[in-house]
Amino acid sequence: MTEQLRTHVAEQLENARARTAVLTEAVDDADLVRQHSPLMSPLVWDLAHVGNQEELWLVRDLGGREPVRRDIDELYDAFKHPRRDRPTLPLLNPAEARAYVATVRDKALDVLDRVRLDEGRPLVADGFAFGMIVQHEQQHDETMLATHQLRAGAPVLDAPPPPRARTPVAGEVIVPGGPFEMGTSTEAWALDNERPAHLVDVKAFAIDAAPVTNGQYERFIADGGYDDPRWWSPAGWAHRHEANLVAPKHWVRDGAGWAHTRFGRTVPIEPDAPVVHVCFFEAEAYAAWAGRRLPTEAEWEKAARYDPATGRSRRYPWGDEPPGPQHANLGQRHLSPAPVGAYPDGASPLGAHQLIGDVWEWTSSDFRPYPGFVAFPYREYSEVFFGPDYKVLRGGSFGTDAAACRGTFRNWDYPIRRQIFSGFRCARDLRPDELG
Ligand SMILES: [Fe+2]
Repeated sequence: MTEQLRTHVAEQLENARARTAVLTEAVDDADLVRQHSPLMSPLVWDLAHVGNQEELWLVRDLGGREPVRRDIDELYDAFKHPRRDRPTLPLLNPAEARAYVATVRDKALDVLDRVRLDEGRPLVADGFAFGMIVQHEQQHDETMLATHQLRAGAPVLDAPPPPRARTPVAGEVIVPGGPFEMGTSTEAWALDNERPAHLVDVKAFAIDAAPVTNGQYERFIADGGYDDPRWWSPAGWAHRHEANLVAPKHWVRDGAGWAHTRFGRTVPIEPDAPVVHVCFFEAEAYAAWAGRRLPTEAEWEKAARYDPATGRSRRYPWGDEPPGPQHANLGQRHLSPAPVGAYPDGASPLGAHQLIGDVWEWTSSDFRPYPGFVAFPYREYSEVFFGPDYKVLRGGSFGTDAAACRGTFRNWDYPIRRQIFSGFRCARDLRPDELG
């Protein structure tokens, strides 16, 4: 088991690094050090930061080795320098950053060879620290993909288009009421905020069988949704005006319709694909316009994991096996969401599609700890973000790797953010005549 785990860890580290290489080698050095948006770091910061976290946790903490570059810790501490300030720091240049991450990786692999993975330390058990570092790099790979989406200039990334729809998917599914197990105490690489497993009683509700599509969202725009305060919360309406929101980010008028810009290419929107690059306030306004609401985080997870036949919560909507290309649009294999109906093999037992992959889905819930939460291995991973400022997103996007996505995985962001690969689906309470 231990040798198998070691091989798995090495493969996962390698996958993450291959993705980082694609994203950082697609552009020249001038582009790597440039800030493409005040919301994002220069790509070269992400690169060295990934190496620095790997050094701190795997080389120094777990391996007990001498520092490679203690002098740069402060520069790559995400809490010390907001993204907008990062271009002004004396950062490693691209060649130095590449050499640094390669040196750290060599040492990390050496630690992996020597460490006893069945050792009692919680940081080592099941390879947790390695899993955390794999997920950290993959999360930065998704962030770097978002930076690529914000970058001006000729396209540099390429990928085959996602699969076409294979089955018609429309309407909603009804999720029965009652308790279900939310979160996990057993998933080896689950992060602190996903723990522990606990029972949550969720009333019966209806949820969309698929994420809201571009075509559906276009009707909200055409119906004057952005100009009607009835659909917006007070904070959402204020933000809509302040930021002058009129359509999802990256949408541009195309005659009577809309096109959107994707990684440097402007193409007509696909009506059947999930809408992406909307903020929480836009999602909330659309739902109100449609006579519906956003699901709570518990509702989303119940729709994704609850198996009514057994009463168990699955790891993923389709079962317990890890995501394959037939299940979900993950891992940057494609550079856009897939049309609704493209992944029938990934549907939940109740018939909800594409909960995993394609687009992160906004929920109505604030980011809060589960009952019995314990910060691990450090408070800054999750705990400092708990509270009303952040909304939870679920399910991962086409830019998320399978290693950093599961039925219990929780993402969080400010409700105004839309440079991320964010979409949503709607839910509603059941009417009395629908309650069995
Ligand atoms: Fe980070």
